[in-house]
Amino acid sequence: MQNLNEWQVDQDYVAIVGDLLQREEVQKLENYPQHHFSNRLEHSISVSYQSYLIAKKVGADEVATARAGLLHDLFYYDWRTTKFDEGTHAYVHPRIALKNARKITHISPKEADIIVKHMFGATIAPPKYVESWIVSLVDDYAAVNEYLLPQMYVSYFKWQMKVATRFTNFRLKIQ
Ligand SMILES: [Fe+2]
Ligand SMILES: [Fe+2]
Repeated sequence: MQNLNEWQVDQDYVAIVGDLLQREEVQKLENYPQHHFSNRLEHSISVSYQSYLIAKKVGADEVATARAGLLHDLFYYDWRTTKFDEGTHAYVHPRIALKNARKITHISPKEADIIVKHMFGATIAPPKYVESWIVSLVDDYAAVNEYLLPQMYVSYFKWQMKVATRFTNFRLKIQ
């Protein structure tokens, strides 16, 4: 994201996620480092807002994208030090996030798919909706953006979006 606070002046976006942002369960994500240069709240807003902009641009469901994007990493442990018997962090944390998200708001089947499939690539089940593809790809991009300079990744992102259209039969207008 070019400007971390860009979303704050986008009233349409704030109207969609404002109730979630006021929740303590979301705000406390600020206490967890995510990648090298960001905490989990900054990361979640960044993924949500960038995904929302793309969803709007391509005519997808920007409300589900923004809300589920914001909640996609709603978990409260340090992934670098916590291990699970049930599986890898990549497999476990989307399920924990969905469970936590359901405690604070209604989650539609599409929003559930967005949250649970956001690690596609590291996990096997492919996204069912174009909105899930968008969040998954933006999350990949964010991981690099928050860690390294992203220039090379932009080309990769565009290529991945083209791959996504084959799975979803959804025509994206990204050039
Ligand atoms: Fe995640
Ligand atoms: Fe993430």
